[in-house]
Amino acid sequence: MKRRSLIAGNWKMHTTAGDARDLALAVATICSDIKDRDVLLAPPFTVLADVADSVENTGILVAGQNVCWEEKGAFTGEISPVMIKAAGGAAAIVGHSERRQIFLETDELINRRVSGGLSFGLTIILCVGETLEEREDGEAFTVLEKQVRRGLAGVHAADMAKVVIAYEPVWAIGTGRTASKEQAQEIHAFLRRLIAELYEKDIAAQTRILYGGSVKPTNIDELMAQPDIDGALVGGAALDAEIFGRIIAFK
Ligand code: 13P
Repeated sequence: MKRRSLIAGNWKMHTTAGDARDLALAVATICSDIKDRDVLLAPPFTVLADVADSVENTGILVAGQNVCWEEKGAFTGEISPVMIKAAGGAAAIVGHSERRQIFLETDELINRRVSGGLSFGLTIILCVGETLEEREDGEAFTVLEKQVRRGLAGVHAADMAKVVIAYEPVWAIGTGRTASKEQAQEIHAFLRRLIAELYEKDIAAQTRILYGGSVKPTNIDELMAQPDIDGALVGGAALDAEIFGRIIAFK
C-alpha cells in the first residue's frame, strides 16, 4: 500500500502578517491543480490565523510549530491545541530539534505535547533526529529509538492515524548537507520497523514518515523515490513559493 505523500513547510521564525499571507496565497495558487498529495504549512503562531484564512477551502493544512498539552491555564508563553484549532490549524509539529537543542525540551516534555495535542484531535508531526556527533559515534539508531519510544509513550494505536514522524538529522538542518537517499531510506525503514514493534505491522505500514534537512528541488525526487520516505518537512526552501512549489511537484 502506498501512503499519501505529505510535503510540509516549516516556516520557523519567519514572516509577519503581510508576507505570510502573500506566501500562503502563492503556495495555494501553485497547489490548485495538485490533488494526489497533501501540503501543510506551519507558520509562526502570530500569523497562523492569517495563513489559515488565506488557504481556506484549498485543502492545504495548517499547523502550529509546537503545542501545549493543556486546553488553557497558567502556561505563560504556550499555545493550546484548542487555540490552534480555533485559529484554523489542524496539526502541530512537536519535538523539532531546535526545540530540543535551543530550548532544552526533553523527550518527556515532548511526549506530553504529543499526547495533549492528540487528545484534542490535532495531527502531530513528531520530529526525531540524531546529531553529527551521535551519528559518528554509531549512536544514531539508539538515539532515534529512544526519541520515538519516549515521544510516543502512552499513545494508543487508534491515535497513530494522526501521527506523522519526521526524521530530521540535526547535521542536515539548514546546513545544505542532505542525508543521502540511502542514509535516509535506511533510517526510515528502521523507524517503520520500530513502529511495527511498538504497535503492529498495519499501523507501521500506514504511518507517514517524512524526511527533513536541506530538502531542495534538486534532491526531492530521489528522496521521494525511496520506499519508506513519504514526504518532506522543508525549512528554508519553504519560504519561497516557487521553490516550495517545485518541491511539492516532485515526480
Ligand atoms: P532546512 O530545510 O532549512 O534544512 O530545515 C529543515 C527543518 O528543520 C524543517 O523542520
